[in-house]
Amino acid sequence: MNLYASHLHRTRIWDLPTRLFHWALVVCVVGLVVSGNIGGSAMVWHFRFGQAVISLLLFRLVWGLIGGRWSRFSYFNLRPGAIIEDLRGRIDARRRTGHSPLGALAVLAFALVLTVQVASGLISDDEIAFAGPLSHLVSSASVSAASAYHKNIGKLLLIALVLLHLLAIIWHTFKGHAIVGAMVHGDKPLEQAEPPARDDATSRLIALAVLLGCFGLSSWVFSLAPAGF
Ligand code: HEM
Ligand code: HEM
Repeated sequence: MNLYASHLHRTRIWDLPTRLFHWALVVCVVGLVVSGNIGGSAMVWHFRFGQAVISLLLFRLVWGLIGGRWSRFSYFNLRPGAIIEDLRGRIDARRRTGHSPLGALAVLAFALVLTVQVASGLISDDEIAFAGPLSHLVSSASVSAASAYHKNIGKLLLIALVLLHLLAIIWHTFKGHAIVGAMVHGDKPLEQAEPPARDDATSRLIALAVLLGCFGLSSWVFSLAPAGF
């Protein structure tokens, strides 16, 4: 089947910054789970990937306010009624232009689970060699609770969410929805004309400036670690 048949409107949905955010996040999350489980000298990479994820999350927060049309939080449809309709498979193509209601819910779930994971990592301590950069600022009871969450519940929640995400993607692909390609090249073949996301040189430069600012902020957080960290 030709997805770009003449009656379909090939439209930019995910701008380059959103796509790079997504694939960088995938690399970092896989890197964090692997380096965390290996431990030892791999923890150096755990902290590097950890700082990268913090920068990416901050970036996506800002990009959700000023980014391309379909990446903006204001275009996320999180009404319970719409989510139920989506679950029943009754959401029309128009309301799947950007994230469908379930897709938007998944983004929110990722944002929450990842934020708690990085926050708990910042104050975790393995009591042998590796401590999060802010663990010296909180009580030892908080460090213990955060470490327990970080390496058990938090890790499993994140892995479960990723598996659910992959199952949802396989299901959509099976249904003929061109969502994976859209996260790669940015475009969706739409049945109706919709305004495209802005994705030009200026918006990409703005994204780069925002990302550098977020990296500066995460570097400052890591600079609060005691000497010898
Ligand atoms: C560690 C693994 C992964 C994580 C943490 C993850 C996370 C996310 C997040 C946070 C979004 C929302 C993007 C945004 O609006 O900023 C998203 C969307 C998406 N992801 Fe992933 N992802 C992972 C793996 C994958 C893989 C392996 C694929 C493809 C094979 C994929 C395909 C997609 C697609 C197609 C969307 C758009 C969904 C939609 O149209 O609503 N993801 N993912
Ligand atoms: C998506 C984000 C993250 C994931 C999935 C993740 C995952 C993990 C895993 C699997 C472990 C191994 C636990 C074990 O010993 O069995 C671990 C340990 C650890 N992580 Fe993370 N981590 C993330 C982010 C961070 C961040 C941002 C920091 C802070 C810099 C951090 C700091 C630590 C520390 C200090 C430990 C050792 C804690 C201990 O063993 O008690 N993590 N992490």
